Amino acid sequence: MDAALLEILRCPVCRGRVREDAAGLACVECARSFAVEGGIPFFLHDDLPGARAKKREMDGWVAKAKSEGWYEPDDAIDRELPWADPALAGELWRANAHSFAVLRDRYLEQGMRALEVGAAKCWAAPHLLARGCSYVGTDTLTDSRIGLGRGAFYGEFPRVQADAEHLPFADEVFDLTFCVATLHHALELRAMVGELARVTRRGGLVCALNEGTRGLFASGDSPEQEAEKKLGINEHVHTVWAYAAAFAGAGLRIRRMERAEGWPLVGVGRLLERLPKVGMTLGTLLHLSTGTYAGVSIYSRKPA
Ligand SMILES: C[S@@+](CC[C@H](N)C(=O)[O-])C[C@H]1O[C@@H](n2cnc3c(N)ncnc32)[C@H](O)[C@@H]1O
Ligand SMILES: [Zn+2]
Repeated sequence: MDAALLEILRCPVCRGRVREDAAGLACVECARSFAVEGGIPFFLHDDLPGARAKKREMDGWVAKAKSEGWYEPDDAIDRELPWADPALAGELWRANAHSFAVLRDRYLEQGMRALEVGAAKCWAAPHLLARGCSYVGTDTLTDSRIGLGRGAFYGEFPRVQADAEHLPFADEVFDLTFCVATLHHALELRAMVGELARVTRRGGLVCALNEGTRGLFASGDSPEQEAEKKLGINEHVHTVWAYAAAFAGAGLRIRRMERAEGWPLVGVGRLLERLPKVGMTLGTLLHLSTGTYAGVSIYSRKPA
C-alpha cells in the first residue's frame, strides 16, 4: 500500500493507526481487521453505526442502475463527466457540471490535497489531477461498474471504501473535502458534515455539491425519492437551513450557497443577490425556502 496513504489512514471505529498484515489492514489499537481487494481497503466495518443500512444501500444502487439501464459503463459518456450531454447521461449532470465548474474555477488551487466522499466512479479525479492536485476517492459502494472499482478508468489514485459518517482518516489532512449529491444519503447529516470538517485542515475547503433540498412547507417524504427508498437507498431531503445549521455546527463558514444548476434567483432572492459577498447565499436561502424540491451547492471554509 502507498506509504503516504497508510500514514493518514485510521481505524473508522476507534481512530487508531492501521498497519498492513496478511489479511489486509489491522488497527493497532482495537485489532479490528479490514480487507484490501483490488487495492481498495474496505473500511465499512460491521461495528460502525448504521453499517447494515449502508450495506443494503450498496445493493440498492446496483439494482437501480440495472433496472434503469445504466449499470454497464459507457466509456464515451464517462470520459466526458461531468460535462457529458444531459440528454445522454441524465438531467442531474446539468447541476453536477455547473456546481463542479464553480468549485474548480472559484476555489481549487494547484497542489491541493483533495478527498471526495460518495465519489462512486471517481469522475472528478482527472480534473483535479490535471490541476496538480492529489485525489483520494471514497464511497461505500465498491462495485466494479458503478462504484470505486470503476475508478481505474479515471487513472491511478487511491480509492478507499469509507462511510463518510465515520471516515478512516486522521484529523486535518486534506485541503479540500467535497462530495456531489451524497450528504442527503447520510443517516445523520450532522455526523457526515462533522467528519468532512474533521479531516480538513484549518483554512481548507469543505464543499457539498448538488444536494437535494425542500421548501420549508414541502414534505420530508419527497415523491421523487420513493422508488429509491424501496430499493433500500437511504434518501432524505433537507431544507437549506438544515444544511446551513449542519455546516455552522461543524465550525465551518459558508462562503457561497447557490442553486445547483446555477439558475438565476427570482423575486426577493434576486434583490438580495445584489448585496456584495453574502448576497448570493442570502438570496439562495430565501429562494429555496419556498417552493417544493430543488438542488443546492454549498462552498465553505474551515476557519484558519
Ligand atoms: C447520488 S450518488 C452520487 C455519486 C457521485 N458523487 C456522482 O456524482 O456520480 C450518491 C453516492 O453516495 C454514496 N453514499 C451513500 N451513503 C454514503 C455514506 N454513508 N458514505 C459514503 N458514501 C455514501 C452512494 O454509494 C453513492 O455512490
Ligand atoms: Zn480500531
